[in-house]
Amino acid sequence: MSFCIAIDGPAAAGKGTISKAVAQHFGFAHLDTGLLYRATGAKTFEGLSPIEAAQTLTAQDLERDDLRSADAGQAASRVAAEPDVREALVDFQQAFARREGGAVLDGRDIGTVICPDAEVKLYVIASDEVRARRRHKELVEKGEEITFEEVLDDLRERDERDAARATAPLKPADDAVVIDTTSMSIEQAVAKVIELIEAKLG
Ligand code: CDP
Ligand code: CDP
Repeated sequence: MSFCIAIDGPAAAGKGTISKAVAQHFGFAHLDTGLLYRATGAKTFEGLSPIEAAQTLTAQDLERDDLRSADAGQAASRVAAEPDVREALVDFQQAFARREGGAVLDGRDIGTVICPDAEVKLYVIASDEVRARRRHKELVEKGEEITFEEVLDDLRERDERDAARATAPLKPADDAVVIDTTSMSIEQAVAKVIELIEAKLG
């Protein structure tokens, strides 16, 4: 049996946290597709072109410890605007989405491009300030020296670039359920999503 849960939304809305918890709850596999773009972007720091970086991506590249940095996020959003880079990463994501036993994928274009026939589509949002506060806390705890204002600017800049690009822009699928986590705890958000999925699983 395959069952695809697509979770999209802007930066730091809670997609990854919800995806991980939901995958664990249902025993599904989870793919953070942002990591593919972050790892591709990080490889361009070493002089590879974006398409070379995407075409030579390995599992090891996804384990670099600098991928969660704001710099890697910016590099990701720049390479992600290039259609040939996106194309190079499609097959892997689509195979993952239809793997046996169920899959949760989070990103920007899962419900629109990667898995348009996903059984469940969610679009997770939160206010800019709340997203920046959460991401700032996370980055500072990891030792990154960055101010709240810098994080807020970074998220806004990426969201604008991601939404404006011609190929697979950030936007909710027509049939996505929008979940606003601005005033929800992680536990509340996860419980709501599990409820929605259980209704679909029947
Ligand atoms: O994957 P995405 O960038 O959308 O967000 P995330 O990495 O899952 O969440 C960003 C941060 O917000 C993490 O540190 C989460 O623990 C936190 N978070 C939260 O405080 N409350 C929520 N309802 C969801 C996430
Ligand atoms: O965790 P956060 O939401 O900050 O970012 P991410 O999900 O790791 O994604 C980093 C960047 O990769 C985004 O700003 C997008 O430009 C790009 N991305 C994309 O274009 N398509 C996806 N399916 C996932 C990420």
